[in-house]
Amino acid sequence: MTKKVAIFISGSGSNMVALVKSMQTLQFALPTLVLSNKRDAIGLNKAKDLKIPTVCIEAEKLAGCDLNFEAAIQKELENFNIDIICLAGFMRVLSSKFVDFWQGKILNIHPSLLPKYIGLNTHERVLENHEEVTGCTVHEVTRKLDCGRILGQATVPIFPDDNVEAIKSRVLEKEHMLYPKTLEQFCLGRSDLIIM
Ligand code: GAR
Repeated sequence: MTKKVAIFISGSGSNMVALVKSMQTLQFALPTLVLSNKRDAIGLNKAKDLKIPTVCIEAEKLAGCDLNFEAAIQKELENFNIDIICLAGFMRVLSSKFVDFWQGKILNIHPSLLPKYIGLNTHERVLENHEEVTGCTVHEVTRKLDCGRILGQATVPIFPDDNVEAIKSRVLEKEHMLYPKTLEQFCLGRSDLIIM
């Protein structure tokens, strides 16, 4: 049966748009829900324009914070019968309990060539270290931040006069190709590593 996909965002949601459009075009899965932990996330409006149901759950507004936050998320995922979660610029770390529950069904995109540059400010660190190449990685989400099984990677060059903004947009462009392709293979049960 067609898998139902929830996409988690916190900001501009450009990867979410790429994922939704590819699912709408190629129909390998059903884009079913966009969930944001930020009410002002620009991506929420983009999801509405694409006619995808949205929910916003802000941890800061819930008593008991993390536990209730994830319980509220879980309830929405069950309401929508979600099979797969794609984190796409979702800037909040999920608990081990939540990640364990979704093990093998939750993916993330990270703006570096993992295992290099786990965590935040990847492009700044790439520049500081005078790397000649960087990129993005789609991986399974596990308890250890940015360390799950790698499913796909795409590289981009670093130029001598580069800056963070230029690298960010070059990497994002690749993310928009890598994440849909990797999700498609994942939904079809294919385990070959995607390299772009
Ligand atoms: C993307 O570059 C994604 O790789 C990154 O946030 C950006 C979201 O952009 N994710 C992380 O840094 C996760 N640690 P988008 O909202 O336009 O898709």
